[in-house]
Order: sequence, then C-alpha cells, then structure tokens
Amino acid sequence: MAQTTETSTGLRPETIRIVNLIYTQMCNLQPDTNVLVIADSRTPTWVVRAFMGGAMALGARAMVAENATPPPPSVQPSIAWNSMVVAAAKEADLIVDLAVGYARFIDDALDRGARVITPGDGTGGHHIEESLIRTLLAADVHALRREADELADAFTQASTCHITSEEGTDIVIDLDSIEGEANDGFLWDPDKGAWKSSWAIVPPAQPGVLLPKGRGNGVIAVDGFLLYEPAYDHETPTGPVFVTIEDGKIVDISGHPLFAGRLRHWLDAQPDDSASFGPVHINLGTNPRAMLTQHLEFERIRGTIVFGFGDSSMSMMLGPGFEPVRSHVHWDLLIMRPTMTLDGRVIVENGIM
Ligand SMILES: [Fe+2]
Repeated sequence: MAQTTETSTGLRPETIRIVNLIYTQMCNLQPDTNVLVIADSRTPTWVVRAFMGGAMALGARAMVAENATPPPPSVQPSIAWNSMVVAAAKEADLIVDLAVGYARFIDDALDRGARVITPGDGTGGHHIEESLIRTLLAADVHALRREADELADAFTQASTCHITSEEGTDIVIDLDSIEGEANDGFLWDPDKGAWKSSWAIVPPAQPGVLLPKGRGNGVIAVDGFLLYEPAYDHETPTGPVFVTIEDGKIVDISGHPLFAGRLRHWLDAQPDDSASFGPVHINLGTNPRAMLTQHLEFERIRGTIVFGFGDSSMSMMLGPGFEPVRSHVHWDLLIMRPTMTLDGRVIVENGIM
C-alpha cells in the first residue's frame, strides 16, 4: 500500500546535513566548480536554496534554474525542456537535478564530461525532505555503497538471473557479457579516493543490470507499483498484474482486471510498440528505510526488484555495445516479494535479503 509522507513547512535542519553529505561524500565537490541546481515548482524553495547555499559554502559557483512542473516521469525521454535550462546545463560541471531525470540535454552534459546527481531521482517534490532524511540519515549510506559494489560484482560474475515470487513471477534473464552496476548514489568513492560514476541517483541503492534489447523470458507478477503515464507518478495494484515477456518484449498482460486493463489500454494507445520492449534494466532495492511513497525512493525499497521498459538509448541507460530500445517513454514495474538467484545463488528470498 502506498503511503503519504510528511511535507515540511520550513527548512528542516537535517536538510543542511543531507546537502553537506551529498556534496562532500557523494560528489566530492571542489571549490570553483560550476554547480547548476535544476528544480521545478513542486520542490520547497528552501530545499532548492539549501542546495545552492551548500554548494556556495564549499566554494563552488552555484545557480538555480527553476522550471514549471514537468509531465509524468514515464514520458521523460520525449519532454521538450526549454532552451534556457538547456543552455545553462552546457556550462555546468555538476548538475543537481531536482526536476529532470532522463533527458537528452542531461545526456549531452554527461557526454561532455559533466557529472549529475539526482537527490529525488529527477522528480524532487514537496515531500523530498522527509524522504531524504529517512533514507540518507537513518540508513548507513557507506554500508549501502559497499554492499552495492558486492552485488554489482555478483551480477557481473553470473550468467543467469532467475526471479520468482509466490505471487506468480517466473522470469529468466540471460546475463551473458553483462556488467553489474552498483547504482549507489555516489559519484565519488571515498574509500578509493576516485570517481566511480558520472550519473547518480539518491537515495541509494539499487544494484542491477542494464540489458540490451531482446533479453528476458517469463512472467512478472506485479504487486508493487506500475510507474506509467496515466497514474502521473505510479499506482499500486490491489492484486497482481501478470506481465508476460518473450525475448524482451511484452506479449500479454492479465491479472487484476482494473490495473491490467489500464496498463493494456495505455500500451495499446501508444503510437508504436516501442513501450512494450523490456526489461531494459533490472535493479534490486537495498535501502532499509525506503518506502512506497510518492517519491521515487520506492525503487530502493530493500528486497524489492524494479524492471524498466521502453527507452534505453541515453548513455546513462545504455550498456557498452548494446542495441538500445528507442522510445518516447520509459516506465517501470516493481515486485515486492521476489526470490532472485544468480547462477543458483540466492540473493533475496521472498523479499528478504
Ligand atoms: Fe526505469
């Protein structure tokens, strides 16, 4: 069941700690860095200002680009961002993304060497303080980082991933020549004193794999959420929705009449079949404090697995040498009680790690 989180009405002092943690530990922010904070009208102004002031306090040059609230996350690949924020992004060394997520101009910034951190997974929101305080300060982010590195290695070593659930999931993914990814929210590895990523989603972590077009056979019994356009953010089915995959493409949707019907209707209404390709990524949530709220923290709920569908053509979603899926949408499914094995080794059992 999705839950509502607390909405703050003024700056919570913990937010200053969060901003400092993100800049100093996760971003290794240095003086004279050009920091662009991209926000939209949903996010409290004091949170946006804390990110601007926090960068200034560390000697960086900071500015804010506030935008109108964008359309739902699932249509991020095809949103036309205004030319002013696109121009500002061209000068940034570090983008703090509280609004955009998955977009071509962010991809272009990455291609020319900028780094991007998304506290809030590109959606910000009115509840961002409560979500980040809970998932960053009430969890050990460095332990999550180290565990995510180990799980990324396990994905890299494995040749087959098998995911089942008592709800009816039974899907096999061929991991041949696929590299695992830690997705731990850290641009910088403070243990190694070295950069580890150019695009990081906060809160951590969701280790997993990016997949080329055409992988995956079986059934996903969705009991967590459907993150797609009609729900604006996501909706939680009250009974499983069964999504059947053949060679990396959805061929059937059944189960709960209301939620299966709505998803089927949405896919049928798309201009082409590109939204049906996937999974293009699979990720295991590991954050013990993440919850099923309106914030995209829900992709990090410990012991759950998220499956992505649709576009995978931008560099942050594209593995080396991959044939991507090109689509106007990217959307996701979550299962709450997976059992996952990598080459027979149990990683998570009935949603418990
Ligand atoms: Fe996704």
